[in-house]
Amino acid sequence: MMFLSIILVLVASAATQEEEACPTCVKVETSCYNISFLFDLNATFRTHVMVHKMGVLRYDNTLFYAFEPPIEDKEYYKVAYVNLDNPEQDGIISDNNNQIMNLGTFDIDQDNSIVYLGGSNGLFSFDKDKNLKYYSSRGDNIKAVFYKMYVFFAKTNDSSIVEKRGDQFEIIEEDLPLKTFVITKYDEMVYLSNYGLFLKKKEETVRLSKNAFFRGLTMDLDGGVYAWWVDGIYKVMIAKNLNRSNIVKVADLPSIGAMAFDNNNNILYNDGRGLYRMTKLGSMAACKDEETNVL
Ligand SMILES: *[C@@H]1O[C@H](CO)[C@@H](O)[C@H](O)[C@H]1NC(C)=O
Ligand SMILES: *[C@@H]1O[C@H](CO)[C@@H](O)[C@H](O)[C@H]1NC(C)=O
Ligand SMILES: *[C@@H]1O[C@H](CO)[C@@H](O)[C@H](O)[C@H]1NC(C)=O
Ligand SMILES: *[C@@H]1O[C@H](CO)[C@@H](O)[C@H](O)[C@H]1NC(C)=O
Repeated sequence: MMFLSIILVLVASAATQEEEACPTCVKVETSCYNISFLFDLNATFRTHVMVHKMGVLRYDNTLFYAFEPPIEDKEYYKVAYVNLDNPEQDGIISDNNNQIMNLGTFDIDQDNSIVYLGGSNGLFSFDKDKNLKYYSSRGDNIKAVFYKMYVFFAKTNDSSIVEKRGDQFEIIEEDLPLKTFVITKYDEMVYLSNYGLFLKKKEETVRLSKNAFFRGLTMDLDGGVYAWWVDGIYKVMIAKNLNRSNIVKVADLPSIGAMAFDNNNNILYNDGRGLYRMTKLGSMAACKDEETNVL
């Protein structure tokens, strides 16, 4: 009888532990994050949902995302938005004259609440009152846009990065066949090309990874640079001695489309239509058995 009750106690405590474990928690670097489903993104997606880029307009907490519309659509890329506090406030950016824009990339000037969008017919701006205006470079196909004091962009058939300062265009990089890039506050550029992921500062370039298939680059509110791939999130560790820099996998996720950081520096990402938030927890308790993998 005594023996039986000991077994019962053991079974009971195992069950409690099972309940206490947090199945939705993952370790990211040295913190524990809890993943929760927010809502489904409601853009007119292609059968296979593809989101290429995400970013949050901090002024009113609106998520912008670039996606692929159905094959019948005349455009192959579009940008949609949804207010994270009031998801019924959503829309897809389009031109009143049904101009074909193929907006596939963007970045946000947070100080002035302007979204700069790049597509197959140049650069456009979209303000907080949702007015779309032509901005620059009509006729050019824009593949990447980055905002830091000024608009930086790269064209599809051109291996350079151009900075637009008012009416002046300055080529800041040449012979850089990149797919996407970000620039840190210390003017370090992280870029993805067909040869992998690179870090460049002044004349020094370091290859961080041979993987050319990272899906995108983003920055957190502290200026940390992250890349993501199907299986998770990677962080670029920029060292003072540039060639000591590397990239480290900081989170395993079964499937991730695109990601961005919200106004609280929590991670937002999509898996298909589903939008998820990874909220940083105050303690490691819920993540205690997780391991961080180093590439
Ligand atoms: C994680 O989030 C879920 C809701 O999405 C909540 O029920 C659960 O208590 C959270 N776990 C922790 C450890 O915060
Ligand atoms: C998306 O559309 C569905 C069906 O029309 C609706 O039930 C849902 O509330 C919408 N979600 C958002 C975030 O607008
Ligand atoms: C880019 O280059 C390809 C092949 O050289 C060409 O077919 C295409 O028309 C060019 N696109 C633009 C926008 O210049
Ligand atoms: C890394 O950079 C330092 C300082 O610039 C240099 O002395 C060293 O040779 C470099 N190492 C490699 C492996 O390139």
